[in-house]
Amino acid sequence: MKTIARCLSGGLSFGLLLLAKIAFSQTLTISCGAVGAELSLCKEAVSAWTKKTGHQVEVISTPNSSTERLALYQQIFSAKSSDIDVFQIDIIWPGLLANHLVDLSPYTKGVEKQHFPTLVENNTVSGKLVAMPWFVDTAFLYYRKDLLEKYNQPVPTTWQQLSDIGKTIQNQEHEKGNAQLWGYVWQGRAYEGLTCNALEWLSSYNGGSIVDNNGKITVNSKAAESALSLAGQWVGQISPPGVLNYTEEEARGVFQSGNAVFMRNWPYAWALAQGEESAIKGKVGIVALPKGGPEGKHASTLGGWQLAVSKYSKYPKLAADLTLFLTSYDIQKQRLLKGAFNPTIKSLYEDQEVIAAAPVAKTLVKSLEQSVARPSTATKSKYNQVSNLFFNAVHNVLAGKEAPKQALKKLEKKLKRIKRKKWN
Ligand code: GLC
Repeated sequence: MKTIARCLSGGLSFGLLLLAKIAFSQTLTISCGAVGAELSLCKEAVSAWTKKTGHQVEVISTPNSSTERLALYQQIFSAKSSDIDVFQIDIIWPGLLANHLVDLSPYTKGVEKQHFPTLVENNTVSGKLVAMPWFVDTAFLYYRKDLLEKYNQPVPTTWQQLSDIGKTIQNQEHEKGNAQLWGYVWQGRAYEGLTCNALEWLSSYNGGSIVDNNGKITVNSKAAESALSLAGQWVGQISPPGVLNYTEEEARGVFQSGNAVFMRNWPYAWALAQGEESAIKGKVGIVALPKGGPEGKHASTLGGWQLAVSKYSKYPKLAADLTLFLTSYDIQKQRLLKGAFNPTIKSLYEDQEVIAAAPVAKTLVKSLEQSVARPSTATKSKYNQVSNLFFNAVHNVLAGKEAPKQALKKLEKKLKRIKRKKWN
């Protein structure tokens, strides 16, 4: 009898607890990227938080193109909408979006100190920590080991070499009836991804980064001209004409189905190229992107994503908790192991389990040292305009509408016009 009573009262308090949990359970909404395995990894991590806290989270996916995603976010923010609590934001946006974001420092208990200081600095605007670093991106050259071996070709170290090898292999494969094969796939659509590609070309020729750290417009140079001239020759020759409309996923689609010798992409493509369903599993190598020439350098654009809490969220404290959970050591470790998303927590690169399971982690750290930042800090609120003008000018050259010299001169003029006396 006593046991039954104990069970009943135990059952009752458990039931009450459950009721209380349901009654206090809130539903947050997070916007996650959906490039490659991003969405499924986001959902997986979010479920772990739900399990821990009892709160629900709706995950919504956003456009793959960073440029389109920004336009969508700007609409949501300008309506002061509380529809989305946590936003996945690009490394170049903290300055642009800071006015709509919550200062996370009262919630972090100093945990941001575990992350790379340059990223924390990037996400700190007027003394406020407006986003937590989530993953960092650097681009690589992906190459087909089997094809280079078959034609006895080295891994290219300059862009010219990449062009020559790509052409040789492509031609010989075409002769053998493999008409689908292209030499090089990359991101040529007129969007932020083209800014990343073209910045790498310029920088690899020692042509700077469009606008330098002091705000000086440096884009119109001989080096930039050489870089754009070479890239212009790829379209239709070693790159499909459709490359002018490629984002990351279109390039990966071609490469992963075995139809390209070389590809420029971020680390996420590595995990997928090695996946069970990949046609090129075990046949891929990655190295630093080529140099502009013997005197040039390896350059990779610094990319990556952060999590930020909207100022219009009804549950900022809870949204901050979700943000801190998703950017934590354990979740970043899972994302690295499963999806090759580079952690922003430095000590993860020394984690023995990570080193054993993902030898690629070492290559990632090295590439961080060779990375070049887009001029989002120097050009302040104008970065998006600067990038738009830049990728449109480059796209015109690639599409054969304008010669590099003319396009660069016009671009410089337009940039001067939007800068006026100084960037603000
Ligand atoms: C990647 C980078 C991001 C960049 C984008 C461009 O997602 O992480 O920083 O803006 O590619 O396509």
